[in-house]
Amino acid sequence: MRRSLALLPLLCLAACAGAQSSLDPAAEQAQSLAGLLTLATWVCGIFYLLVLFFLALSLWRARDRIAKSAMPAIEPSEPATRRALFLWSVLIVGALCVLVTASFLVDRSLAEARARDALQVRVTGHQWWWRLEYRDPASGAWIETANELHLPAGRTARIELGSADVIHSFWVPNVAGKMDVIPGRINSIDVTPHREGWHRGQCAEFCGLQHAHMAFDVKVESGPAFDAWLAAQARVASVPIDAGAARGAQVFASSCAACHAVRGSAAAGRVGPDLTHIATRRSIAAGTLPFSRGALQGWIAQPQALKPGTMMPAVPLEPADADAVGRYLESLR
Ligand code: CUA
Repeated sequence: MRRSLALLPLLCLAACAGAQSSLDPAAEQAQSLAGLLTLATWVCGIFYLLVLFFLALSLWRARDRIAKSAMPAIEPSEPATRRALFLWSVLIVGALCVLVTASFLVDRSLAEARARDALQVRVTGHQWWWRLEYRDPASGAWIETANELHLPAGRTARIELGSADVIHSFWVPNVAGKMDVIPGRINSIDVTPHREGWHRGQCAEFCGLQHAHMAFDVKVESGPAFDAWLAAQARVASVPIDAGAARGAQVFASSCAACHAVRGSAAAGRVGPDLTHIATRRSIAAGTLPFSRGALQGWIAQPQALKPGTMMPAVPLEPADADAVGRYLESLR
């Protein structure tokens, strides 16, 4: 028992690193916020301990008098008491000033990124997935993808947030704070990642049945790697060479194209995510399942079992057709 209690403090450290933690910052903005959080924790922690210390001290001193039930009233007129009260007030006001100043400075540093030239990204929240569009710096065209946000390290990205239905909240704790995603309005947030790696974004505003499965993968990569990724995403889908995949493309065109787009094919649906390069993504169904042909086939056959309430209807396909669609989607690199 005692040994397991000794392990308790370790539990508190468990959230200090990871793919979805504001305590493991990978961007300038998250770094500032983590600094502010650390400062506030220290200041509040010290005050908490001071209050407990003085409480214990006064109880200990009053022990005898309480025993004799002769507790004297506090005499604020005593010079020593007045001095202590004054000191305590100065300490509290001082600590509050430190917190307010730090908060103001962090706010200024977050706003400062607004003046920079930034990569433009449009993010639209849908029940329950994310539409992502990148402005191609060269051509000015918008390049669409979904559920996997790529960001270049060392460059500021301006993320404009809109909603197609209800209120959502865009949150990648390793990169920045939360920002509400509100229908009929565009909010924007600037992020300047400085460390490469994978993170997890999550909708942070309850938005219906599958709110918890409204996640997305975030990859911070080097500038050249990002440029190569964006150029690949800009390309239309290649025509499948494999016979199975080619058959899958036909099935897809008749069964899925009303909702999903695959650029370069006749599929141009706008209801669900753009699937032009779905095979480059790490997961499907907004972070619900890791990407694999099996997961795709399961998702197509039983979406309501995997994500109850999702707008994706079950698509009844013959086993051979389901296999072909899986092969086709897997070829969309
Ligand atoms: Cu979208 Cu919660």
